[in-house]
Amino acid sequence: MKAMKVAVIGTGYVGITTGVTLAYIGHQVTCVDIDQQKLALLRSGKAHIYEPGLEELMHLARERLKFTDSYAEAVPDADVIFVAVGTPSAPDGSPDLRYVQAAAEGIGQHLNSKFTVIVNKSTVPIGSGNWVESLVQTAYEAKNGKKAKGNFAVASNPEFLREGSAIYDSLYPDRIVVGAEREEALETLYNLYRPLIEQSFAEPAFQPRPNAMKAVPLISADLASAELIKYAANAFLSVKISFINEIGSLAERVGADVTQIARGIGLDSRIGPRFLQAGVGWGGSCFGKDTAALVSTAKEYGLSMLIVQAAREVNYRQRERMIEKLQRELKILKGRTIGLLGLAFKPNTDDLRDSPALDIAGRLIKHGAKVRVHDPIALEQAKQQNPDLAVEYCESVMDLVEDADAVVLVTDWAVYRDLDWEGMAKLMKKPLVVDGRNFLDKQRLTKAGFHHVGVGTGTNPQLVTAEG
Ligand code: UGA
Repeated sequence: MKAMKVAVIGTGYVGITTGVTLAYIGHQVTCVDIDQQKLALLRSGKAHIYEPGLEELMHLARERLKFTDSYAEAVPDADVIFVAVGTPSAPDGSPDLRYVQAAAEGIGQHLNSKFTVIVNKSTVPIGSGNWVESLVQTAYEAKNGKKAKGNFAVASNPEFLREGSAIYDSLYPDRIVVGAEREEALETLYNLYRPLIEQSFAEPAFQPRPNAMKAVPLISADLASAELIKYAANAFLSVKISFINEIGSLAERVGADVTQIARGIGLDSRIGPRFLQAGVGWGGSCFGKDTAALVSTAKEYGLSMLIVQAAREVNYRQRERMIEKLQRELKILKGRTIGLLGLAFKPNTDDLRDSPALDIAGRLIKHGAKVRVHDPIALEQAKQQNPDLAVEYCESVMDLVEDADAVVLVTDWAVYRDLDWEGMAKLMKKPLVVDGRNFLDKQRLTKAGFHHVGVGTGTNPQLVTAEG
């Protein structure tokens, strides 16, 4: 394999994982960020996010990995430049592209005459490839006094990694999607990803290659299709989750069990078992933002995305359903003490963006309840990011449940299944648990004295494993 020079602009989840993975498979990677604190941490071998395996892979790739705040250092030599900056939602649901713009301009000012592929890795609206191309061109012209002729091409290479399993997903992806109008750009990206496509890199000991792993399919598409593939994938997964939650609501009424239904339909290979875990619904930085962006883009073309819009409504209603469950059991929420287990939007991450738990906490406070929260990893972060949220942050689960009226499991962290539920039952006023992910061992909890309330289950929720 020919090692390539790579620059990655932005060291968020996607940027840092991309940079570290490409360095690990043999390329020379320079990661660019404007945040000096992040850079200092990364240079010392530490990650600024909680992501299992990231620091280990960084360590293995350290000789081919550099961190800088300077475009001048990263851009001129690069064969491939990834734009992996944030695209947060504007209030109307459309993505805020100012960081993409700044990155494109920074790149344009520092490109030289050698051929470079500029890759949109951030989830950007359809048509952004062309937009980035024109921004780079304008910045190049302003700097060099002439147009860039053929020395760069823009491509789209959407990312499909999940937080919490980012390293696994990057080393062993289901597919790689690249979109570009110029053949040379597609060829460059093929060469870049060859070790992943052929799975020819040495597996890291802490993240072994799955037994059934074959060569990774590379999907070459035009720019707009690659951009839309990303949105379509996230929207489809969001719809799948909301679909099972909607079925769960009916299951609850008719006395059926959504976990059995998920299994019963998921074994149909046309449907598949994953992303059918009913519960409080999705959170995080992707599904909410990307479904909103899809709805907003469609609107620009006079289209309504009815299914995607409905999936959003079902999702946010699931959070309110946790409140309804507590009302049904406790009747009055005013003055009650409710403990929430889990703040991160999913296990194995400290990411609190669109956290269902923080949303539920806010709703409970509005009802006059006293709210306590716990998370094995994200507690300190939550405290810092939400200085005005009137909750009690508990370091220990025992503090969370002491004299509490109910406990709600919001994030399915593995450690929560093995808590001392027997001891917890003794500390609570009346042991009530709302299992927002159908994750806990109902039999054990019932034996310990808990009244266990699941989601989408009018009967006996069976233990399901998270099949994310
Ligand atoms: C998601 C996609 O799965 C990735 O493919 C994509 O790259 C990423 O967004 C992105 O666009 O960057 P992520 O949000 O990190 O990844 O995590 P997921 O594992 O997809 O979980 C999202 C949310 O859905 C979590 O809150 C999770 O608890 C919830 N979920 C997931 C369910 O409620 N039920 C399920 O069956 C699965």
